Amino acid sequence: MVRFENVSKVYADGTKAVESLNLQVERGELVCLIGPSGCGKTTTLKMVNRLCEPTSGTIQVGGQDVMQVDPVQLRRGIGYVIQQIGLFPHMTIAQNIELVPKLLGWDTPKRASRVDELLPLVGLDPDTFRNRYPRELSGGQQQRVGVLRALAAEPNLILMDEPFGALDPITREALQDELKRLQGKLKKTILFVTHDMDEALRLADRIVVMKEGKPHQIATPDELLRNPKDEFVAQFVGRDRLTDAPELLTVSEVMIKRPVTVDPNHGLAEAIATMRQRRVNALLVTDVDDRLLGIVTAQEIERNRRSLLTVSDLMRSNPPVIHPGASVKEAFERMFLDHLEFLPVVDHQGVLKGLMTHTSLVDVLSHALWPDGGAVSSGGGAA
Ligand SMILES: Nc1ncnc2c1ncn2[C@@H]1O[C@H](COP(=O)(O)OP(=O)(O)OP(=O)(O)O)[C@@H](O)[C@H]1O
Ligand SMILES: [Mg+2]
Repeated sequence: MVRFENVSKVYADGTKAVESLNLQVERGELVCLIGPSGCGKTTTLKMVNRLCEPTSGTIQVGGQDVMQVDPVQLRRGIGYVIQQIGLFPHMTIAQNIELVPKLLGWDTPKRASRVDELLPLVGLDPDTFRNRYPRELSGGQQQRVGVLRALAAEPNLILMDEPFGALDPITREALQDELKRLQGKLKKTILFVTHDMDEALRLADRIVVMKEGKPHQIATPDELLRNPKDEFVAQFVGRDRLTDAPELLTVSEVMIKRPVTVDPNHGLAEAIATMRQRRVNALLVTDVDDRLLGIVTAQEIERNRRSLLTVSDLMRSNPPVIHPGASVKEAFERMFLDHLEFLPVVDHQGVLKGLMTHTSLVDVLSHALWPDGGAVSSGGGAA
């Protein structure tokens, strides 16, 4: 449907915005372009509908070289949502949405019914909004209308430049779903620019990670999650992947690495002192080779504190354990189903490697929700 062959764009001032782009987008495919600010995403989109022209190389849409097609004609067949909304201020919401259908010669009733059909899709009541002007809408509402305008005439190719950037998460998800549905059902081809890896992973059939004007890695979301080409891609993917694929995380990645341990021959007073000092309510009992022997909890010690017993007398042997390579999902499922407060992580030789706690879960979730650092630190060893 869209084919870039060796496409480069050098702006008049010498800025190399896009360099040797080769990309084939199939009919019905949704391809996301993602990359740092200034890497050439908007420029790439604009070359497709000739809002800017490539310096070299060719772009074909539906088998036709765009440079051979009348630009006005070309644009009528391509939906476009620009990065800054771009509604016409002197036109009402309805007039904005029916712009292309009108150019295509749809009659008035058909256009009006299309407007009334589209507005509710993005949670805007037609009676309230159809006759308002863009300045009478919030930024997010304007953005939603911008998306509708691109969809109105049901073009086969849609270019979207960060269309959902200013929306609240709920509206954004509703629109993502709507877009996915439309694309799947009507076989629309969509080139979608985003900054948001979550959005790309959710929507894309393929993701193009761009760096300095060049496609750096082109892959399906799954490939990208599993095999980021290098550190640049890994960083781009990494901080968000927890949100979309916590099942891909392993226990060893989130466990507490140095849980507090105790020697089986220690007395109870000593064990309690360690707990108090390290602020934990249980200790993992290990032998000299770090093999896990059992668990002893503050509660059990409390009940026997006047006795002369040792840790080994009180410990629970053979506690449930999990391997470091197991998935985080499995660990939490076991913890919840068996009402475990913690789950020691033990390798095949029985050596203690770490500990999963409910705090580890909080870490995973907070990392997913606030990838930039809201995460609670795992600390040194709370059990
Ligand atoms: N008209 C122009 N003249 C000169 N340089 C331009 C022009 N438009 C864009 N550029 C430059 O080309 C490069 C790519 O810009 P582009 O808008 O394609 O980036 P982008 O990936 O869409 O960035 P963002 O994520 O910030 O929207 C940037 O360095 C930009 O400054
Ligand atoms: Mg841009």
